Amino acid sequence: MKPSSRLEKIPPYLFAQLEQKISAKKAQGIDVISLGIGDPDTPTPDLVIDALADAAREPGTHQYPSNRGRQELREAVASFYQRRFGVDLDPASEVIPALGAKECIFNLNLAFLDLGTCALASDPGYPVYSGGPVLGGAEYVPMPLLPAREFAPDLSAISAEDAERARLMFINYPNNPTGAIVADGFFDEVVDFARAHDILVVHDASYTETTFDGYVAPSFLETPGAKEVGVEVFSLSKGWNMTGWRTAAIVGNADAVQAYWKLKTNIDSGMFEAVQVAAIAAFEQAADFPRAMSLRYERRRDQVVAALREIGVDVTPPRGTIYIWAPVPDGYTSASYCEHVLEQAAVVVSPGSSYGPSGEGFFRISLTVPDERLTEAVERLRSSLGG
Ligand SMILES: Cc1ncc(COP(=O)(O)O)c(C=O)c1O
Repeated sequence: MKPSSRLEKIPPYLFAQLEQKISAKKAQGIDVISLGIGDPDTPTPDLVIDALADAAREPGTHQYPSNRGRQELREAVASFYQRRFGVDLDPASEVIPALGAKECIFNLNLAFLDLGTCALASDPGYPVYSGGPVLGGAEYVPMPLLPAREFAPDLSAISAEDAERARLMFINYPNNPTGAIVADGFFDEVVDFARAHDILVVHDASYTETTFDGYVAPSFLETPGAKEVGVEVFSLSKGWNMTGWRTAAIVGNADAVQAYWKLKTNIDSGMFEAVQVAAIAAFEQAADFPRAMSLRYERRRDQVVAALREIGVDVTPPRGTIYIWAPVPDGYTSASYCEHVLEQAAVVVSPGSSYGPSGEGFFRISLTVPDERLTEAVERLRSSLGG
């Protein structure tokens, strides 16, 4: 048996080593608290669950769905975009449901990349921005996100050669893992760059609904000209606590949406109709839910930031996402600090380097653990790592 060379080029699973260490600790009877993974700890809104249950009892939902999705769902996405962002979308040509942002981002690589081409990928970034192009038989070029530039990539640093062979650019604000919000004027710069080099921009909007301190995140599609050069991938996963449901949508440039649809008809058979009905309920009847969740994460953020500062970690409170991105103290690498925290406090934090080379020197904390566990984790950080 020989796996493909594409698969062999993909690095081993990010947390593999850390997971082994966690298992070893647990086997010793140590109560490890994981602040590693960003997966909301509270349930999906009841009315969304009820909508799913009712729809699942309707035999009409049991057959193969259409890959275009129900018209009512495409309309619900379009009216959400109009209400929330003031962005007009044609439900017939500019919206398609996706089985999670991950599926959509990955498949865009298959739809747009060829051998010899590349995707420009935020670094650090969601791993599919780098793994997707490689599995698609192409390459990725990291675009470093650094604190000195408010975690916006420097587009002028992209070589002429890379700009010419690039077909895709992956950006994401509010940003995982840095927690950064989009820098002023950055989306305009992206539109100009994409126009100049004929690149499809893919804005990953997985965290636009999870923001703090009154900040309201924009859609990339609010930027003049964005729809000519880009799509946005909007997910219900984080804002509505629906990570397990696999519900997202691609919206924006009609040609790109059409290419994605053509690819998808050859790969999967769409979203279970009952889940589509539930997604409509989320957009239409639970639009305020992410705001309530944001308040909860904001409280948790303040608790963690205070504890990190007490133990000498110089951290900037994020204004969005469910993560805190912090520099490791002097004398540590990302990996050695995460190991130190695990050893000393039995708390798991993620090494920044696992999100790309520019993540070295940072670690990430996820705020998606129940309040009492987070309080316990914070106490452990204070008592084991303080002073
Ligand atoms: C930036 C980013 N994009 C996409 C995803 C995956 O979203 P979905 O559950 O919609 O596939 C995540 C999940 O952590 C993420 O952080």
